[in-house]
Amino acid sequence: MRHVISVHDFSTEDILNVLDRAEGMVDIAKGLAVDDRLKGRVLATIFFEPSTRTRLSFETAMNRLGGGVIGFAGTEATSVVKGETLADTIRMVSGYADAVVLRHPHEGAAKLATEFSDVPVLNAGDGAGQHPTQTLLDLFTIRSEMGRLNDLNISLVGDLRYGRTVHSLAYALSLFGNTINLVSPEGLEMPGEVVDHLKGSGQFGTACHSPEDVIDNTDILYVTRIQKERFPDPVEYEKVAGKYRIDPELVSQGPRNMIVMHPLPRINEITPEVDAMPQAKYFEQAFNAVPVRMALLSMVIGGE
Ligand code: NCD
Repeated sequence: MRHVISVHDFSTEDILNVLDRAEGMVDIAKGLAVDDRLKGRVLATIFFEPSTRTRLSFETAMNRLGGGVIGFAGTEATSVVKGETLADTIRMVSGYADAVVLRHPHEGAAKLATEFSDVPVLNAGDGAGQHPTQTLLDLFTIRSEMGRLNDLNISLVGDLRYGRTVHSLAYALSLFGNTINLVSPEGLEMPGEVVDHLKGSGQFGTACHSPEDVIDNTDILYVTRIQKERFPDPVEYEKVAGKYRIDPELVSQGPRNMIVMHPLPRINEITPEVDAMPQAKYFEQAFNAVPVRMALLSMVIGGE
């Protein structure tokens, strides 16, 4: 049984294996080819926190491979409101499905779920912890766009403290040999353990508060949303909301082949005018979720 809880569950070879398989899934993801290798299998998507892309791309991936999907998005209509524990929910759902995709506000929830599940658990985001399947699709996008996963200057911009996508991505990029710059508002810096890891592996570039300071030397500008829901105090959120505005002027200052990525949803940190620029890759990135999650499901459920 293979759980997907953190990027630490993957070696470099594992990651490349997923990405290679995902490449072979693109036509199926687009509906240009038909494949029913997961026919008769069931995926549960249980989301205790809001989601658009992650849940729908997992469900599309399962449907495109001929499988079925059960689950919930929001706990209002479930027994969670009656006080059912995560442990009991997982125990039961794992009897209904061949794998469980879980998103939960608490860091460590997915790891905890593995103790109660009879089937593989895939972490679709545990609070400010990790988001490993997002990282796989981010790496897929980087490899497709840049032709490699190494020797890149990647600037992670935004809420590096609470943003789980950047935690997972920083660790994964460090497997390949890159330079990683950390750009965040004051108070939203990358957690010390991630910074120490980057420094220890010789891949820490610079830490600063302004994207202008790194744009000249950036191959990938990876922008993230300020994670409003994680702030203990709304006043603190207001202080940093709208701090960054990535606009065409800034994007034009980057190297000619720089790309702009974002896990989405974006609020106002990338202006809509950037969307039409060739550097903007975030909608391609969102599509890539489907072939990458198909590859993962075919491995985790299909035993490939
Ligand atoms: C991210 C998440 O949920 O962590 N969304 C996603 O899965 N693409 C990013 C975010 O919510 O800011």
